[in-house]
Amino acid sequence: AAAETLAPVIEAGAFFDCEVLEVRHYTDTLFSFRTARPQSFRFRTGEFVMIGLAGEGKPTLRAYSLAGPSWDDALEFYSIKVEDGALTSRLKHIRPGDRVLVGRKPTGTLVLDALLPGKRLFLLSTGTGVAPFASIVREPDVYARYDQVILTHTCRTAAELAYSHELVAGLKDDPLVGEIAPEKLVYFSSVTREDGPQTGRITDLIQSGLFFKSIQQARFDPEQDRVMICGSLAMLEELKTIFEELGFTEGSNARPGSFVVEKAFSGDGI
Ligand code: FAD
Ligand code: A2P
Repeated sequence: AAAETLAPVIEAGAFFDCEVLEVRHYTDTLFSFRTARPQSFRFRTGEFVMIGLAGEGKPTLRAYSLAGPSWDDALEFYSIKVEDGALTSRLKHIRPGDRVLVGRKPTGTLVLDALLPGKRLFLLSTGTGVAPFASIVREPDVYARYDQVILTHTCRTAAELAYSHELVAGLKDDPLVGEIAPEKLVYFSSVTREDGPQTGRITDLIQSGLFFKSIQQARFDPEQDRVMICGSLAMLEELKTIFEELGFTEGSNARPGSFVVEKAFSGDGI
């Protein structure tokens, strides 16, 4: 077929037109996929980029975190499937050999350079907010900068934790961080709408102290700890208040601080 003769990456104006290499479905509402990577495409670990599907008229574009490591020769994305969603109602049907548009200008605040130096790095996520952290925990520089990296992922159900579970389980086989990540990374997951070994929102588990008990670590210290937060707006706002009350300051690319936040999606949530 004609599609088989296309190059893995074609330049298309402000976008790259990239071949889909692999798709994995986790639940009715979650999947991940990998695409060919343009040779000239560079991003900083933790950034996001606009992606979309070509069609009739203007393509529908949405922000997506680059979930794979920055050194990989493919790009990885982790996605929601929104019922009737302009992009994802189509995107969820992609298969290897299909094409996805990837913007040329990655950006974002969940980058190491937006944080001051520190000892422990906390990566706090809910839902698809874990996507940027899937990139960060595979970045060798993270383990050079921090003594410990603590990744948290909270979802409604255990099935929705599959992506982060597999990610963390696979780190020991990673070509670059396979030795160091198992030594330095702590993974904490919880569910909020069914029973499990750990239940509850991360905000509540922090406030009650159960989080620290469970990971067997000291409470937050603004002098030594650095924090990245990615989830719904409500989750970001609650955690921001918690950290500001503890004396943490919000950082940005222009002015590094002790914590940074980014919305996992816009809108009220469903
Ligand atoms: P939309 O019309 O965009 O969304 C419809 C509604 O669905 C939204 O109003 C919201 O209530 C809900 N919704 C949208 N996205 C999500 C989500 N991820 N989780 C829960 N509810 C959601 N989405 C990803 O799946 N993976 C990512 O890595 C990702 N990174 C993002 C980074 C940034 C900085 C931003 C702003 C958004 C990101 N999103 C991500 C959301 C993404 O841009 C789209 O909203 C999503 O793909 C759905 O697109 P849609 O056109 O199908 O529905
Ligand atoms: P809950 O089930 O108690 O609402 P969603 O699927 O709605 O995007 O939520 C993803 C996860 O984020 C769920 O476990 C949800 O818990 C949790 N969550 C929702 N709002 C907040 C908040 N304000 N602070 C912390 N966690 C939240």
